[in-house]
Amino acid sequence: FLVCSENKTLSADYEPSLPVSEKSNPLTCDIDRASAYSIVKMLQVCDSQMFQKEAGTTYQRLLSDQVLKTLMEVAKRVEVIIKDPQESCVVMSGCGTSGRLAFLISSGFNKALSQLNQSEVYSYIIAGGDRALLSSQEAPEDDPRLGVLSLKKVCEGKKRVLFIGISCGLSAPFVAGQLDFCLQHPEVYTPVLVGFNPAHQARDEPIQDCTFTFHSVVQRMQELAKSQKAFLINPAVGPEAISGSSRMKGGSATKILLEVAFSAAHAATSSNTPITHNGVLQHMMEYERTLAVTYSQPDGITTLVEAAGESLRCSRHVYYLGWGSLALLGLIDASECSPTFGADYEDVRGFIRGGYRELNNNDGPLTSLGPKFSIAHEDFLHLILPCLTDTDTVLLIYTHSGETALCLVREKTPNLHAVYHQADGDTAASLQQDDIKKLCLSTLKITWPQEALVSGTLQHMQRELSTKLVLNAVSTGAHVLKGKIYQNHMIDLQVTNTKLYRRATRLLQKLSTCPEEKCEEALLKAIYRVDMLTLEMTSSDITTHTCFARNSTKVKR
Ligand code: F6P
Repeated sequence: FLVCSENKTLSADYEPSLPVSEKSNPLTCDIDRASAYSIVKMLQVCDSQMFQKEAGTTYQRLLSDQVLKTLMEVAKRVEVIIKDPQESCVVMSGCGTSGRLAFLISSGFNKALSQLNQSEVYSYIIAGGDRALLSSQEAPEDDPRLGVLSLKKVCEGKKRVLFIGISCGLSAPFVAGQLDFCLQHPEVYTPVLVGFNPAHQARDEPIQDCTFTFHSVVQRMQELAKSQKAFLINPAVGPEAISGSSRMKGGSATKILLEVAFSAAHAATSSNTPITHNGVLQHMMEYERTLAVTYSQPDGITTLVEAAGESLRCSRHVYYLGWGSLALLGLIDASECSPTFGADYEDVRGFIRGGYRELNNNDGPLTSLGPKFSIAHEDFLHLILPCLTDTDTVLLIYTHSGETALCLVREKTPNLHAVYHQADGDTAASLQQDDIKKLCLSTLKITWPQEALVSGTLQHMQRELSTKLVLNAVSTGAHVLKGKIYQNHMIDLQVTNTKLYRRATRLLQKLSTCPEEKCEEALLKAIYRVDMLTLEMTSSDITTHTCFARNSTKVKR
C-alpha cells in the first residue's frame, strides 16, 4: 500500500498542478475520521515515506546518491569554516518551523564546538525575528528585503559565508531574497538551498517589487551547482500527513540533512575522520532507525494523543514540561499549533527548565512581549499551576529530568504523562524514572540500544528527532480529534501570507468544485466579511488581503 501510494503521490498525474509539498497524501485522506490509534499508524507510514528509495520516479529522495554527494560537499565547506572561524560562518535561515529548526540546529552544533574549545560558527535567522521562535509570524515570509537585511546584519565583517536557505516548499520570498543576494555576491557567499520539492516545482509566482521568483533563483543555482558554487539539497519526502503542514516531514528531513552534513564536518575537524559517502549514508540510516524505535510504541503514543485530544475537546489545555533541547522541541511544537490548527496560544504550551537562560537565543529574554513568551518552569508553576484541573494534560519530556515540583502538579491533575529516553541497560536512570513513573498516569519510555559506534552527539540528535515525532503526533492527533482537520486539510487558519492565501483558494476549489475565480471571490468575502465586494477590495493585491486577514479572527465563532 505504501509503495502504491508513494508512486501515486509522486507521479506527475496525481494533483498535477501541485508541488509535492502541497499535495494531499492519499494515506491520510480520512485521518479526520480515524481513531487515535489509526492516526498514529497513519503518521508512522507517512513518516516512513521519507526514507523510501527512488522507485520509478525521477525525483531525488533522502537516500539518493546525488543527495548524499551534495551533503558531502556541503560538509567539506563547513569543515573549512570551522578551521577559519574568525572570518567565516555558516548561516541558516527560514520561515516558521524552518527558522525554528535553524535555531535548534545552530544551538546544538555551536555547543558542540564550545565543548571542544573551538569558536562557534553557526548563526540562525528566522523571519520575524526571535519572537517567531515561539509564536506564529507568517507575514515576514513574503518579504525578500527583510530577508536580505537580516542576512547582511548577521554576516557583517565576514569574508566567507556558507548560507543555507531552508524553504520546505521552495516557496518563501524571504529566503528567495537571501539566495538572490548570495548569488549577487559570490566572492563572499556560497548559497545552499534545502527544500523538499523537485527544482521545477519551485514557486514561480512573481514577488512584489522583485525581478526574480523562487523558481528563477533555483534555476540560477542549478547552473552554478554544476561548478559547485551553489548547492541544492531537495529530495522529495512525499506529501505531508496534513496537506502543506511542512512542520512535520519537512521539519524532520531538514533536521536530518543538516545534522548529517554538520556532524561529518565536525568529525573531520575534531577526529580527522574523512568525509565519506558511506559515513554519510550510515548516519542517515541511524535516523531511519530512529523512526522505527519511536513508532515501535504505537500504544504509548496513542495514550498521549487520546489524553491531549480529550483536553482540547473540553476546551482545556496541553502543557509540555521539558528539560534541555527536548524542551525546545516542545516549545516549537506548541508554537506551530496556532498557524496549523487556528489554536489559541493557551491550548498547547511549552515550558523549558531554565527558561531563556537555557534557550540562549539571539535577543535574550522575550518575556516583556506578553504572556505567551513566559516559558520557564517557574512560569508554569506561578501562572498555570493555580488553575490546573484534571482535564488538562501535562506531558513531561526529558532524558534527564530535574526537580520541578512534580508532586504539586500531581496534586492538581492525575493527567500527568511522561515521554523519556533511556539507553538500554541504564539501571541508574531506571531508578530515577521509577519515582517519576509513580506520579504519572502513563509513561512512554523510548529505549535506545547501546551501540559503540553511535556517538553521544548522534544519540542526542536521535532523541530529539524521536521527541519531535512524538510531539507532532500528539498535537496533530489531538487537533484532528478536536475536529480541526477536514479529510487531511487544515481548515482553521488565517490567510496571513501569499502561500496560505493560494492554499485557501485551492481548498475551496477542491471542496466546492467551483471555478478558481468564484472561490477567490468567496475567500475575499470571508476576509472582508461582506456579501458584496467593493472595487477597492477586488483591485487590491494579495498583500493587502493578507494584511486585512491578519487582523480578523475566525469567520464564524
Ligand atoms: O506560512 C506558514 C508556514 O507554512 C509555516 O507554518 C511553515 O513552517 C513555514 O510556512 C515555512 O514554510 P517553508 O519552509 O516551505 O518556507
